[in-house]
Amino acid sequence: MLFPARRKAVWPLVIVPIVLFLYLRGTFSSTNSYMTEAPPASEIGQVPIPARPDRSVAVQFLSGQKMKNLWKELHSALTHGDIGVKKIELVEGDGGPSGEYLDPNSDYPGERERENHLAMTTAQIQSMRTHFTTYKGKISKLASITPYWKGTRGIVMGAGGKYTHIALTSLLLLRRTGTKLPVQVFIDTHDEYDAELCEVTFARLNAECLVMEDLIGKGTVSQYQYKILSILFSPFQHVLFLDADAWPIYDPAFVFEEEPYKSTGMITWPDFWVSTVSWLFFDITGTKNGPVMERRSSESGILMFNKEMHTETLLLAAYYNWYGPDLYYKLLTQGAHGEGDKETFLHAALALEKPFYNVRQSNGIVGRWINDTLHTAAMVQHDPVDDLKTEKYTEQHAGVPKKDKDDKVIPPRPLFIHHNLWKMDFFDLGDDISPIHMRDKDGKLTRTWGDQKDLFKRAGFDIEEMMFKTLINAKCRVVNPPPECPGLRNYYDTVFHSGSR
Ligand SMILES: *[C@@H]1O[C@H](CO)[C@@H](O)[C@H](O)[C@H]1NC(C)=O
Repeated sequence: MLFPARRKAVWPLVIVPIVLFLYLRGTFSSTNSYMTEAPPASEIGQVPIPARPDRSVAVQFLSGQKMKNLWKELHSALTHGDIGVKKIELVEGDGGPSGEYLDPNSDYPGERERENHLAMTTAQIQSMRTHFTTYKGKISKLASITPYWKGTRGIVMGAGGKYTHIALTSLLLLRRTGTKLPVQVFIDTHDEYDAELCEVTFARLNAECLVMEDLIGKGTVSQYQYKILSILFSPFQHVLFLDADAWPIYDPAFVFEEEPYKSTGMITWPDFWVSTVSWLFFDITGTKNGPVMERRSSESGILMFNKEMHTETLLLAAYYNWYGPDLYYKLLTQGAHGEGDKETFLHAALALEKPFYNVRQSNGIVGRWINDTLHTAAMVQHDPVDDLKTEKYTEQHAGVPKKDKDDKVIPPRPLFIHHNLWKMDFFDLGDDISPIHMRDKDGKLTRTWGDQKDLFKRAGFDIEEMMFKTLINAKCRVVNPPPECPGLRNYYDTVFHSGSR
């Protein structure tokens, strides 16, 4: 027995995958190799199977007149006037900010100075300020014409290309929690649209694909810029945004109903590093410049928004992202870790003085040591409701916890796994090149997350085992399993059931 918590969790680990398998039984039925026998009637209905969405409704919403009108007005506001700067560069010879890693288990490292490493002339600053002010002046009118379905809640995911396969892994694990939240998967372009996955497999998982190209055309935006538009254009009023590689450990729907979401309508999660936002950003946007160590840099793989309170925030974030790659991503990160859309959401709320809750508990990281090298796998992101209740944090300490009287940090409950450090492509899982087949110096297979007794105790069950079990059941319990299944099963049996770690 690895630890006591596993015992308790045995039955859901057995029942859920079986039922999930039954639930998915038809998922692959249009492909011969995935054909399976019918489940006994007695086993049907043990997990809540969400109603199939009416596919045409959201598609109609996205291609409807109100949305077309919003995009026309938004596009016109975004592109109005010359922002006056082509690209912001670092000061010549300056390596940029160090982007210091803030160890979640260390004591508060002390205050930091707000730094600037960017070369900008006074005229450029003035020009960006004017452009920003003009756009900001249009936000409330744009917000008034932004359509959404009042009272609805749902999950929005970004995918496309190989990310659609990663999203399938996440959807399977999401549905394992029993959540009834509907999912909309935004695909960038029709070239990346996989009809079989979207219309058969995802549909059975109550997930619907929406193609951004239908609304905004092709080549209008790239990469990170799609995220803000998918949140803004999704019809849900209350949105939980998940990167394609992120999934919840429990049904996350309760977060919509409790503090801090209820009063703030916006939740963000922290990243590992110190904030590297340039003070020029505050200068240009007139945002109040608080202490650097007020919060860490932001991680935007998981976000929550209530449009009734935050449509304006989303519209300003759209502006930061529209001018992101050459301008605002530079101002907000200055070339440090993970430069991209990460800071644009939180800083839009700050600029508009809107309330939001930034989870204080820093993300956990799981991974294993093999031959003296750390192979990381995933991040653990925490429950905001529990985070708020955890009184042992101070407001100003960038998520570095005060310890309790026994000098022990008890983090809030884990809620999400963000498997971004190696990507779990459902169709490659178990392939020869997969990280699961790495062996240690004794030639043994090991858990990809390393030793996570504390995490699993906190979660109440062995999340890594559940993850592999769920995926094996969906992938391999079929009449003609794909060729990587024996290797995958061998990995699972060896690592999780022979006592080896
Ligand atoms: C670790 O070392 C062992 C023994 O030298 C070797 O067989 C194994 O492939 C190595 N693993 C990795 C991931 O490098």
